[in-house]
Amino acid sequence: MPSILVLHGPNLNTLGKREPEHYGSETLDDVNNRLMEKGEKWGCHVDTFQSNIEGELINQIHASMGKYDAIIMNPGAYTHYSYAIFDAIQAVSVPVIEVHISNVHTREPFRHTSVIAPACKGQIVGFGTKSYDLALEAVREWIEGV
Ligand code: DQA
Repeated sequence: MPSILVLHGPNLNTLGKREPEHYGSETLDDVNNRLMEKGEKWGCHVDTFQSNIEGELINQIHASMGKYDAIIMNPGAYTHYSYAIFDAIQAVSVPVIEVHISNVHTREPFRHTSVIAPACKGQIVGFGTKSYDLALEAVREWIEGV
């Protein structure tokens, strides 16, 4: 059975309360539970992890080797400046799909750059919390060779 890790970066623990005009009203638990249910229906195991600490996210990426088939990651603001996360993704052979809830390209200029994107397999941006679902679907089709 394929295994997928969903990683959420800083401030995503406040989903549902935080700037709902950008991030909607669902909580992180709502998102995680839905992804785990979808995974179960599709026959893949989904684990989730959130941290406000860069090194903890990096440790998860390192530990994913041999354990997960793919990582779906919303690196939060680390997207825009964390070369350490870029390096961590480069250091493992697990494909990473970068996800953003908001359309970062319509927001402040500093959000238009992802330093992580060149290390990722792909990006899904701007579909609200559904961005995660779309990433899960993309991973599934990619794993199944659809
Ligand atoms: C975000 C966009 C980032 O710019 C921001 O710092 C976040 C959330 C998104 O999902 O839209 O924390 O990654």
